[in-house]
Amino acid sequence: MSHKTLNVGIVGYGFMGRTHANAFRKVVNFFDLPIKPVLKAACGRDEAKLKDYCDRWGWETAETDWRKLIDRKDIDIIDICTPNDSHAEIAIAAARAGKMVMCEKPLSMDGPQGEEMVREIEKAGVANMVWYNYRRVPAVTFAKQLIDEGRLGRIFHYRAKFLQDWTISADLPQGGAGLWRLDAAAAGSGVTGDLLAHCIDTALWLNGNINSVTAMTETFIKERKHSLTGQTQEVKIDDACAFLARFDNGSLATFESTRYARGHKALYTLEINGEHASVAWDLHDLHRLQYFDHRDRGNLRGWRSIHVTDGDHPYMSQWWVPGLQIGYEHTFVHQVADFLQGVASGTPAAPTFRDALETQYVCDAVLDSAKSGQWQNVKHV
Ligand SMILES: NC(=O)c1ccc[n+]([C@@H]2O[C@H](COP(=O)([O-])OP(=O)(O)OC[C@H]3O[C@@H](n4cnc5c(N)ncnc54)[C@H](O)[C@@H]3O)[C@@H](O)[C@H]2O)c1
Repeated sequence: MSHKTLNVGIVGYGFMGRTHANAFRKVVNFFDLPIKPVLKAACGRDEAKLKDYCDRWGWETAETDWRKLIDRKDIDIIDICTPNDSHAEIAIAAARAGKMVMCEKPLSMDGPQGEEMVREIEKAGVANMVWYNYRRVPAVTFAKQLIDEGRLGRIFHYRAKFLQDWTISADLPQGGAGLWRLDAAAAGSGVTGDLLAHCIDTALWLNGNINSVTAMTETFIKERKHSLTGQTQEVKIDDACAFLARFDNGSLATFESTRYARGHKALYTLEINGEHASVAWDLHDLHRLQYFDHRDRGNLRGWRSIHVTDGDHPYMSQWWVPGLQIGYEHTFVHQVADFLQGVASGTPAAPTFRDALETQYVCDAVLDSAKSGQWQNVKHV
């Protein structure tokens, strides 16, 4: 097979900079792609750290200003791995320069900014995608297949949680590398945009649109020192958020996220209960899907723990042999593979910017409801 190539320029060499670099490198080893990515250039502001990142992951060249990266004629795809407050500016500049754009989640700081991004990207007519990678955990993709086959029947309940415990100390500062998540100016919101956005994206994909929400949020530590200014400043993000939701299909949902659940590091769980069957999934055991089917013979009924590693499970035929599991990093490999297949076939892989805007609208409604104490209708794309 003859291969076309696309040159990738990545912005940001932090946590996501590493997961994406790893994915762009590995994807060609495991997937037969009509288009291959080339790790052409990486961009970051600290020259020494950038050099180390390029050497370690095999990026051919380095840029310290993302505008220069976008100006380069030899770059086809801009991949955005920077904090949330820079997504819009970089994505819009990249789209206007005719580059394809892969952007980390959440798409934007809020719905109106997301609308502008969708307008610009669609006006430019460039391929685009947002890295809601949990859709591409094979067990989650498998859940989607079971739902689409109608195995669960009518859906009554959707239940999702994303629990962490890393911000409990009042001494933890806000702002700067990694800790920008605690600074509302960089993050937009707290757990709602950071963690619940993942739960919402998966939920919209598995269970359709949400029409209304009622939420509560809390900021447990009210002031923190800012790493960049040294000043003690008010904390304006939501440390915790819980909300109820009604889906268009009539099902009821509960969502909860916090960074104050002592003992939990990244416990993303979801459960869906339908009239015939239920599914449950847990990020700490991500290669398993729990499945209960009421149509089984009565005395054999029970929850099955399906090891999602067989060749007929989503994505798994590309990896090792049946029974051998894969993990977190592979979801990013799958995302790159699907993006490139989408570019080659002309059928864009989801979630596009437009798809991700729907999640932004749910986040806005959640935060508005937490302020007003009222049920809030969700705007739709
Ligand atoms: N899909 C996921 O599961 C997932 C997980 C973590 C983070 N994220 C998202 O990825 C994005 C980055 O998060 P992270 O955890 O990698 O953060 P991080 O703090 O580890 O890395 C951010 C990087 O952006 C760089 N940066 C910031 N401003 C820049 C600028 N103006 N020019 C060039 N580089 C700049 C920083 O130097 C750093 O290298 C966020 O939007 C976050 O929400 C997604």
